[in-house]
Amino acid sequence: MKNILLKRGRLLLTLFLVTQFTDTFAQKQTVIRPGEIWPDTDGNHIQAHGGGITQIGDTYYWYGEARAQSQDPDRRYVGCYSSKDLTNWKFRGNVLEMANPDTLAANWVLERPKVFYNKKTKKYVMYVHIDVNYKLAQVGIAVSNKPTGPFEYVRRFHPLGFESRDIGQFIDEDGSAYLIFEDRPSGGFRIAKLSDDYMDVEKNICLLKERIEGGAIIYYEGLYYCVGSGLTGWKPNPNKYATATSLEGPWTEFKDIAPPEVNTYGAQSSMLIKVVGSKKTTVLLLADIWKPETQWDSRYVLMPLEIGNGKLWLPTPQPYTINMKTGETTFVEQ
Ligand code: GAL
Repeated sequence: MKNILLKRGRLLLTLFLVTQFTDTFAQKQTVIRPGEIWPDTDGNHIQAHGGGITQIGDTYYWYGEARAQSQDPDRRYVGCYSSKDLTNWKFRGNVLEMANPDTLAANWVLERPKVFYNKKTKKYVMYVHIDVNYKLAQVGIAVSNKPTGPFEYVRRFHPLGFESRDIGQFIDEDGSAYLIFEDRPSGGFRIAKLSDDYMDVEKNICLLKERIEGGAIIYYEGLYYCVGSGLTGWKPNPNKYATATSLEGPWTEFKDIAPPEVNTYGAQSSMLIKVVGSKKTTVLLLADIWKPETQWDSRYVLMPLEIGNGKLWLPTPQPYTINMKTGETTFVEQ
């Protein structure tokens, strides 16, 4: 009897300690810390690399490559996280878990997922880069009825018949949806309009003749800003930007977004996000600090940009807070 009570006591103590420990991790975060481990609300480092953020009402969904060590190496995963403040992210599951779609070689890759919500069909349409040895160069489409999946794979293809490697997404002010994709044989980077139901890439809008990938676009105060990285694989390089008054162009020359010698602080562009607040519209860059040997540990840079009048600049990544009501960001003491 005494033994049983002792055991029960120990069990309760363990349970108590585990709860305390989990609570410490689950504490609400107030500061975004670019480049550091970014714990989700369960305390696990966010797995949403090469990601995209889709806003539905007041909720942001962050989709990206999930590269956790515990995953089945024969499958490819897209992680999904939700947040209302861009700071605390709740894991909503791996919303796409894919086995080899058909006849691809075992080393096939699924990268840079981007999700578009179609108001007419009420479907969530995910575009991904599907490849084998980076030679196949296709996009894949998967669909869901909910932002949190499960997404079902539909097909893979060459958009408008072109090769497509890194992809990005852009929704214009009028709600039109565009896929941005790197078309290497054409020596550039395309902006193409999606069909009404988003299930196809319908019309080429522009080919930017610049060898750039990790493409992202935002519309800010009358100008389109386009950001991209050089073609150096997992290695960082000086990311650049150009502007235009229309998506068709003409686009200005590409210029550095940070001092070229810092190689974008080790990060590669993935997406531009706009937070429209009562006092300020803030544009944030979502970028990846890749760790090719330990991909699960790759980090993120989500940083407010200095933007306006045709200029765009990435300040040194540093901790900050964001006020979702006013749109203001404030750097904090380190
Ligand atoms: C990068 C690309 C990444 C990944 C990597 C593989 O250029 O942006 O998404 O494809 O190459 O080397």
